[in-house]
Amino acid sequence: MQTATFDALRTPAGAALLAQASAAYGREDEFALGTRLRREHQPDLVAAALTQARLRARAVDKFAPADAARMFFTVDGYEQATRVAVARHRAARLAGALGPGAAVADLCCGIGGDLVELGRAGLTVTGIEADELTAAVAAANVAALGVAAQVVRADATTVDRAAYAAVVCDPARRGGRGRVFDPDAYRPPWSFVLELLARTACVKVAPGLPHERIPGGVEAEWVSERGEVKEAALWSGGLAGDGVERRATLLPSGATLTDRDDPGPVVRPLGGYLYEPDGAVIRAGLVTAAAARIGGGLLDPSIAYVTADAAADTPFARGYRVLDTLPYDVKALRRYVREQGIGVLTVKKRGVGVEPEKLRAAVRPRGERSATFVVTRVAGAATVLVADPL
Ligand SMILES: C[S@@+](CC[C@H](N)C(=O)[O-])C[C@H]1O[C@@H](n2cnc3c(N)ncnc32)[C@H](O)[C@@H]1O
Repeated sequence: MQTATFDALRTPAGAALLAQASAAYGREDEFALGTRLRREHQPDLVAAALTQARLRARAVDKFAPADAARMFFTVDGYEQATRVAVARHRAARLAGALGPGAAVADLCCGIGGDLVELGRAGLTVTGIEADELTAAVAAANVAALGVAAQVVRADATTVDRAAYAAVVCDPARRGGRGRVFDPDAYRPPWSFVLELLARTACVKVAPGLPHERIPGGVEAEWVSERGEVKEAALWSGGLAGDGVERRATLLPSGATLTDRDDPGPVVRPLGGYLYEPDGAVIRAGLVTAAAARIGGGLLDPSIAYVTADAAADTPFARGYRVLDTLPYDVKALRRYVREQGIGVLTVKKRGVGVEPEKLRAAVRPRGERSATFVVTRVAGAATVLVADPL
């Protein structure tokens, strides 16, 4: 979409067309809808309106439905935007640390996923975006949602940062060939991120960022939403937690665990319960901190399963009662599945070279009951724990 077409979509006539397209989208065949709309409007404007309608329908996955219905997107901008729960968490943490009204620059603001929540959190925020159309979309979003935020089209690396109490930066991690994993290939690159982290900043990074890339004195926070790891953010200057190097935060609860809660590795024999830590806890290297919270220990020093003697209610791990412990022997497992009448079998594995799909097929589940097999190493030997979710 050209910026001029996007501007035309925001005139009263364009807005009426978009409202018509959005109302009919999903109820009417898209091809027929396009043909009908093109009878009265320019083809490029109809194409832009249909793209917006499609993206608004999709955007309920990331944004509150009431916002998604009013926002504007580009395909890339939508895909790179921060999910609302994560953006809100980050904005609340920043506002809490900096105080109401503090001036913040959102460098690389994209279509404004973070920008909107920073403004809503009461910060005085300026979004900086290099791409012309993306900057126009961000400006349209703050206007559509009634958020007090400014958007400036500029190269973030040339912005004078002295006027801001803190900067937020979410570098682009996509290139022409999809996702970029090398931080040096981020746009702006890692060298710029390091410059920002030398002052007061919050930088969003890929959850797989190697721990050794994180500079000293910077806190790395891994965030999951409903058990799925969504991102990591690096907090520096006054924004880092006191002496905290690694943190796992779980949304929507906001439960948080840090390396300061970590007593270090405790390995113990299998108890009656097994716990599978949340992905953010694992990425943050805080499995032993999660174990300590429930009086448990690791089954194996290098595997992210925790065992304990008692059932515990913890947000940091999913718990299972261990019903049976079987050696990893496919024939014996097939017999067990037959004798127990297991027809629906979930296979989980960690620390063993087992392919869950192959194992499931090999044991031929046929019966009425459902069961979970957790294949892992117990006392050095491949073992199957028959586990019942708590
Ligand atoms: C990951 S997206 C930001 C998403 C945003 N946080 C959100 O929630 O919508 C990164 C953005 O950085 C922009 N960008 C890349 N290099 C830039 C630079 N040097 N200056 C300003 N923006 C830049 C890209 O155009 C892209 O829109």
